[in-house]
Amino acid sequence: MGGFEQDFHGLSVNDQGRLDALYERLTAEREGFIGYPCTANFDYSPLYRFLEFSTNNVGDPFVESNYHLNTHDFEREVLAQFMDLTAAPPHASWGYVTNGGTEGNLYGLFLARETLPDGMVYYSEDTHYSVNKILRCLHVRNIMIKSRPDGSMDLDDLRETLRIHRDVPPILFANIGTTMTGAIDDLAGIRQILSDLAISRHYIHADAALHGMILPWVDRPQPWNFAAGIDSLAISGHKFIGAPFPCGIALAKKTHVDRIARGIDYIGSLDTTLSGSRSGLAALFLWYALRSIGRAGFRERVANCLEMADYAIDQLEAVGRNPWRHENSPIVVFDRPPASITSKWQIAIHDQIGHVITMPHVTRNHIDRLTADLAALEPVEAHS
Ligand SMILES: Cc1ncc(COP(=O)(O)O)c(C=O)c1O
Repeated sequence: MGGFEQDFHGLSVNDQGRLDALYERLTAEREGFIGYPCTANFDYSPLYRFLEFSTNNVGDPFVESNYHLNTHDFEREVLAQFMDLTAAPPHASWGYVTNGGTEGNLYGLFLARETLPDGMVYYSEDTHYSVNKILRCLHVRNIMIKSRPDGSMDLDDLRETLRIHRDVPPILFANIGTTMTGAIDDLAGIRQILSDLAISRHYIHADAALHGMILPWVDRPQPWNFAAGIDSLAISGHKFIGAPFPCGIALAKKTHVDRIARGIDYIGSLDTTLSGSRSGLAALFLWYALRSIGRAGFRERVANCLEMADYAIDQLEAVGRNPWRHENSPIVVFDRPPASITSKWQIAIHDQIGHVITMPHVTRNHIDRLTADLAALEPVEAHS
């Protein structure tokens, strides 16, 4: 066949070698994976048999569809658990399993724009880079609000900006844990400003990509969920829970979703989601993680991660990198390291800072090796 030897499921020896090399590279890269908010240790092997089906959760997870190779029943259980964790109003909330946090944010802002077509979106400088693109896609008016040095939205700037635009209904995009510093925007403060300015028509979306699976498990969470007055929320599934592919959760008050729902004969369901075809595996994998780890398991994982973050702070302090973190966040911010370190440890950087994120797979050994590398830097290189 074209001169290739076929000895493995139709693959040439060369192609099989490429897969082996990829496997080795990913295995080696995972070993030093401490800079991004994705859990790297999980075992979904009991679910591998489901890879033989062409599952697709097309349509609304709460409506029977003509496409029966789905995992909608598992998806509904996942959503019920997230509704519980986020204090979503019972019987008045809706949601679906998304392709990740970005889709959940796009969905929330889409609902917001349909609810307040003449609205203006307010979001802070520290908001995830994808949100600016979402605003361009939705073609909605928007204003960027200054951030405080700790990464949270500057409420003085917000108040002043809202005051100038009091005739336009605001759509607040709140960060429940910013990407770089894990800062949580002050929802109570935001609502106080809306009340002070007598702005009654408004919409609040919460981007809880990472921290949405951390705050349910701590003793003193900052206000962050539907109990704090939000209208919709997005959480990534592959971040704190961990998954071999991107996935996430979008939740919203049902009244907002009813506004955009359309009946579609072709799928025999309601078109309430952004994507048509949706992963049936994502819902199944999330269900498996939630059931197998359990509430006590997540509580313990979160406590361990925050303890590891404190350990990282002690060690980074000892090598003079000025580390700090927000309460309830495993994101440990420190002085921006040089390229040799960011590349070896896959550390995200922004302006003068870098961070490590003590996700469940990050150990003391990782931190010790990172700080040893930092300590070994030549003085000229250390802050270059
Ligand atoms: C605060 C925040 N929002 C949104 C996203 C995007 O989420 P996803 O990568 O799941 O699309 C991220 C990703 O890092 C994030 O940190």
